[in-house]
Amino acid sequence: MRVVSGIKPTGNLHLGNYLGAVKQWVAMQDEIQAAGGETMYFLADLHGLTEWIAPAELSANTIEMTATLVAAGIDPERSILFNQTRVPAHSELAWLLNNVARVGWLNRMTQFKDKAGKNREGASVGLYDYPVLMAADVLLYNATHVPVGEDQKQHLELARDIAAKFNLDYETDLFTQPDPLISAAAPRIMSLRDASAKMSKSNPSEQSVVKLIDSDETIADKFRKAKTDPDPLPDSWAALEGRAEARNLVIVFAALADRTPDDVVAEFAGKGFGQFKPALADLAVATLAPIRDEMVRLLADRSAIDAILANGAAKARDLAAPTLAAAQRTMGLLA
Ligand code: TYM
Repeated sequence: MRVVSGIKPTGNLHLGNYLGAVKQWVAMQDEIQAAGGETMYFLADLHGLTEWIAPAELSANTIEMTATLVAAGIDPERSILFNQTRVPAHSELAWLLNNVARVGWLNRMTQFKDKAGKNREGASVGLYDYPVLMAADVLLYNATHVPVGEDQKQHLELARDIAAKFNLDYETDLFTQPDPLISAAAPRIMSLRDASAKMSKSNPSEQSVVKLIDSDETIADKFRKAKTDPDPLPDSWAALEGRAEARNLVIVFAALADRTPDDVVAEFAGKGFGQFKPALADLAVATLAPIRDEMVRLLADRSAIDAILANGAAKARDLAAPTLAAAQRTMGLLA
């Protein structure tokens, strides 16, 4: 078993990334390694280029996000932690796979449609082609499992299609079909201001996104001011149907506490959000503050963080080389 997953260093890690992906990454270090497998996590800095970002911001974010991952429990001694740029095989395999992926497949990617919006002609080619690089990221290591939030599921289905078509066209079994592992607890954390939009770095309001770098006061304030409705919590999870903001907050509570939504609703049944939100704020601060404090401590030595990435990349390059060479041979590029 080999677990591979990535995150774009285009901002600070937020609660959606943490609950939807990173918490699973940490848990998998133990599970997969106990089963003799391997965990590989990377900063998808090449994906970070698909929408304009100032160079200084991208490089600072890469270091800061690495520190946040380590603070959240990714152990560079046990997991291979690196940034994409330092492993050129990602880009090289992406070019090979560009010739396997079909334009029609990429045209169906909803994230491109959302991000490009009405300005399709003005979107970068990278933004359009991004899912092929993402396929290369996982196929390069023959990943068996890819822990991601629900928004990445379509991209992984594309990676499976690309693997299948490559194997079929070239009559080989070179690539493994990766299975997406979508967090059951937090597949899609929504904005705290608008429960129809996922929590994301690009949300228009700062209040809607809890960042792992936020101060205790800011975290608490964002939860206290989160949008809700005037009704009290019912006595069952099912009875929250149709109350999207309320459901989102219960999911966040449950995911932070490692409890089920049913269990959380039962505890607060009959109580209003005036009681629920401060309890959620306290829980969030208690969970996130130690990660933030550790991140700040780690960032005092940026060169140590850079060394973690350089070390991880050396290991990743060794694992990537045989697959890339096999793909090149298979396609007639190498004798
Ligand atoms: P990115 O950087 O947008 O997000 C990183 C991870 O966080 C998850 N996530 C969420 N989960 C639940 N609720 C949310 N509101 C939420 N927002 C983000 C994402 O699903 C993701 O798992 N394309 C990827 C990065 C990537 C990658 C890969 C992932 C590049 N190559 C290969 C896996 C395998 C991305 O943009 O994630």
